[in-house]
Amino acid sequence: METVLLSDSDIDLEKAAEFIKNGDIVGIPTETVYGLGADASNEEAVRRVFEAKGRPADNPLIVHLADFSQAVSFTQFIPPLAYKLAEHFCPGPLTMVLPKNDRIPMITSGGLDTVGIRVPSHPVMHRIIELSGRPIAAPSANTSGYPSPTSAEHVMRDMYGKISAVVDGGNSEFGVESTVIAIEGDSSVRILRPGCVTKEMLSELCSEVIIDRAILHELEAGQKAASPGMKYKHYSPKANIIMVEGELESFIAYVGANNGKSVYSLIFDKDADRFPYRYMTYGNSSSEQAHLIFQRLRELDDAGAERVYVRAPETDGVGLAVYNRLIRAAGFEVIRI
Ligand code: TXA
Ligand code: MG
Repeated sequence: METVLLSDSDIDLEKAAEFIKNGDIVGIPTETVYGLGADASNEEAVRRVFEAKGRPADNPLIVHLADFSQAVSFTQFIPPLAYKLAEHFCPGPLTMVLPKNDRIPMITSGGLDTVGIRVPSHPVMHRIIELSGRPIAAPSANTSGYPSPTSAEHVMRDMYGKISAVVDGGNSEFGVESTVIAIEGDSSVRILRPGCVTKEMLSELCSEVIIDRAILHELEAGQKAASPGMKYKHYSPKANIIMVEGELESFIAYVGANNGKSVYSLIFDKDADRFPYRYMTYGNSSSEQAHLIFQRLRELDDAGAERVYVRAPETDGVGLAVYNRLIRAAGFEVIRI
């Protein structure tokens, strides 16, 4: 199959919507990362999304809608807190796990009786949902296990020949995937995957915000994941990623003692002047780091890095999302110095 590259022109977005209506798969930009979009109600289309990604069948897909009001058509029940959160965060990088109804096939929800609902803010994604008139199931458009794509080129590299088209909508604004939450009781939520709707932001509207243990810790053998995606190795480039927590001086000393051919460090922009070894930088603020992290992980592979020491990000605000992606890319290998 040839994969066509589409622009964000009206004609091309019509074409993208036609593909979706026909049960084909299209790489689509969102404000978080690029998604692999298909009609969420078409079992055969969804089956081919799992196949293109090489994704385990028990890992559910998020369903994207043009407006949160449409969620009633795909769920059994929407708790008042979900409406309140939607008012503040939809459209945007928030996914709410809700009890699904029969219009979402079991294959889409990975066999669960719930569905993750998200209303993306990216105008291109929004337009394609509207033009197709379908709920769009869209996992991140990477090969399963590899860093998520934040540009059309990344999607082309992972998916060329496997999907019908990729729509180029520029680089993703946020750079990490949406915050996934489950609603627990009348006024509390559990964060299943951290993103740019942060714990702090949710705390303004909820009496309790629980950070699921799987966000920062490896699941123990036999432990059940609240979010199936949390049990798989993730976001990993080919290089061996090692997260190092500590001050810059100790970090430099540590890398010096463990340096070698094809060793890189991933450091903050502000450290660059003082850093004597081979490096790439990933911004200073947590938002910059989120914006750059997946792109850098891919660039490190392109540069031939075999081992990468990463200066650990903060764990508050958006930093928690960056930390979560890195700790998983590192297979939970963290060195504290
Ligand atoms: O920002 C995003 O969310 C991107 C863009 C394309 O929208 N999509 C995305 O999808 O990251 P994916 O499939 O790569 O990640 C979805 C995550 C997985 O960890 C999955 O296990 C979890 O959300 N998830 C989806 N539906 C769920 C459900 N019903 N219950 C629990 N976790 C769910
Ligand atoms: Mg993903």
